[in-house]
Amino acid sequence: MKFFIDTANLEQIKEAQALGILDGVTTNPSLMAKEGITGAGNILQHYVDICNIVDGDVSAEVIATDFDGMVKEGEALAALHPQIVVKLPMIADGVKACKYFSDKGIKTNVTLVFSAGQALLAAKAGATYMSPFIGRLDDISTDGLGLISEIRHIYDNYGFETQILAASVRHTMHIMDCAKIGADVMTGPLSAIKGLLKHPLTDIGLAQFLADYKRGN
Ligand code: G3P
Repeated sequence: MKFFIDTANLEQIKEAQALGILDGVTTNPSLMAKEGITGAGNILQHYVDICNIVDGDVSAEVIATDFDGMVKEGEALAALHPQIVVKLPMIADGVKACKYFSDKGIKTNVTLVFSAGQALLAAKAGATYMSPFIGRLDDISTDGLGLISEIRHIYDNYGFETQILAASVRHTMHIMDCAKIGADVMTGPLSAIKGLLKHPLTDIGLAQFLADYKRGN
C-alpha cells in the first residue's frame, strides 16, 4: 500500500519523507488555507515546493467547477511539475475533465467520492486515483471502511486500474483496516502514520537491551 501524507505543511512533509516511507502528497484548498497559503501565485509555488521535497505524486486540486475551467486550470497545474496529479471533484464536469486528462496521459485524482457508484464512474473515466473520504462517512454514522471494501470488490470484478486512494483517514487503525481491505493508497495525517511505530513492548525491550549493554561494558 502506498503512503501519501494529507497536508500542505512542509515540515510534516519533510519529516515523513525523511522516514523513508512516503510515496506522495495530497492537498486540497482547505489544507492550503490551514497553512496560510493564499493567492493563486503562492499556491502554485507551494505545489512546486512540495514536489521538490517528495519523490512521488502530488495532488493539486482545481478550483473551477465547469469543464472548460477545470481543463484550463488542470493543464496549468500539470505544467508546473511532472509529479503533479490533477485533482478533480466528483461532479459531472469533473468526470468529463477526468476523461479529457486521462486521454492526454495526465494523471488525475477524483476527489470527494462517497459512494461506490461515484467510484465506478471515476474508473470508467480513467482516473489514476479515486478518493473515497472514509472519515467523513464515519462522521455521519456511515461505514467508511465498508465503502472501501465495496469499491475494492467492484474494481477487482472488472480489473479497473484506477487506484483506490483511501482519504480522510483520521487515525492509525484506519490505515491498518485499509491495508487489510486492500486499498492501493492511503492518505492521512503524520500523526496517524507515526502511530504505526508505537508499541510498549518495543520501548520496554529497547530499554532492557540498552540497560544490559551498559551493565556488561
Ligand atoms: O484527504 C481528504 C481530506 O483532506 C479530508 O480529510 O479529515 O477533512 O475529512 P478530513
